Amino acid sequence: MSVGAGRISESPLSATWRPSVLEPAVLAGIDRRGDEASLDELAALADTAGAEVMGRLVQRRDEPDPTTFIGKGKLDELHALIHATEARLVVFDDELTPAQLRNLEERLKVKVVDRTALILDIFAMHAASKEGKTQVELAQLNYLLPRLRGWGEAMSRMGGGIGTRRGPGETKMEVDRRRIRRRISKLTGDLRDLATTREVKRRGRERSGVAQVALVGYTNAGKSTLMNALTGAGVLVADQLFATLDPTVRRLRLPGGRTATLSDTVGFVRKLPHDLVEAFRSTLEEVSLASLILHVADASAEDVEDQIAAVREVLGEIGAGGIPEVLVLNKVDLLSEGNRAAAARRHTEAVAVSALRGEGLDPLLERLEAALPRPPIEVELVVPYDRQDVVARLYREAEVVSAEPDTTGTAVRARVREDQLAWAGGFSVRPVARRSRIG
Ligand code: GTP
Repeated sequence: MSVGAGRISESPLSATWRPSVLEPAVLAGIDRRGDEASLDELAALADTAGAEVMGRLVQRRDEPDPTTFIGKGKLDELHALIHATEARLVVFDDELTPAQLRNLEERLKVKVVDRTALILDIFAMHAASKEGKTQVELAQLNYLLPRLRGWGEAMSRMGGGIGTRRGPGETKMEVDRRRIRRRISKLTGDLRDLATTREVKRRGRERSGVAQVALVGYTNAGKSTLMNALTGAGVLVADQLFATLDPTVRRLRLPGGRTATLSDTVGFVRKLPHDLVEAFRSTLEEVSLASLILHVADASAEDVEDQIAAVREVLGEIGAGGIPEVLVLNKVDLLSEGNRAAAARRHTEAVAVSALRGEGLDPLLERLEAALPRPPIEVELVVPYDRQDVVARLYREAEVVSAEPDTTGTAVRARVREDQLAWAGGFSVRPVARRSRIG
């Protein structure tokens, strides 16, 4: 990726990406399981990056060839396919080693990119915040570093295009590894500072007593659409992979009066590049600190079960595996009655919705409210009528079991957290004993 004229600029991702020409491409991969879901997804990724997929080639084998990823016979076939389709780009469905990449470019005489470069490219297109851009650039440089030689030689003949036009540029031959390393350590430091700022904000939300719900899902499952439907957030919705990259946090009002924050996160995908998971770790870690995970799946996707599993795998990887989850089967408007029923049978725990049509949202909100962890201490309070702000705050931040007018104020039964006793406990009508702890 990212080769061509120019040096590594101080801000390599600032150039805007213009899909001016649809670059003809063929896809290549090995098939370990006998289905092509991974290649279908690669086609969608390539499309998102602006390529026009002209053909695909799959080899049935368990392990890739160490030299050229696919075997020799298949390589000839690929060559013929490139020729027949006039493709200028081959996209491989796995991460290639630097040597494989070099060998393939030499033999095929067209540009070769792998799944990782493609995903990094798409991320570079979509990163908007400073943190997002820094994370992507860091991932790109880490990916680029071991591959400098290959690109410096083979790619300089081939010009820019997908996988090469965004991100850190490189002088053709005089590769300044030291400069890249310096940049990597600068970005790592910047990220640390940015993560601290975000952590301070997050702590602030936590202190406010508002429960935090993290919205996760496979890319294109409908996270942004659901976020908009639930909160009116005005988040970008696009039928593209990874349209959402920068987390958005919005307030979510639950039917019982409680509020929670809902934060959108980057979409997950199979074979999410390791460098990317590393670079996005701090963003992803936000998920691991949530009280509840709202997992959106696209019920109309053929491989929805694999997608659900892939998301859960990443959640496990980032330490969020033990957080309670509400599974949402989205896009049910695209399913026939029969398929809808079958999906519901497979996932009895899930809530079926159509975020686009606004269907099923009330039951979902109720489910979310029921699934949110309950504050552990039950209190009985009488809040004087001139302190109704406290009642409002209890509704917002705690769980109000009942509230009735009384002679001197509002009699409230509520569940609160230990730290909320400091402001709520002052109105208590009975001592808050340890034995009143619940849960
Ligand atoms: P990423 O940013 O890629 O992670 O995507 P996302 O999960 O945020 O998905 P997004 O909300 O951008 O939706 C992706 C596509 O699915 C858009 O074209 C939406 O209009 C469409 N979509 C979302 N929800 C529904 C739904 O309930 N029914 C139908 N038919 N389409 C939907």
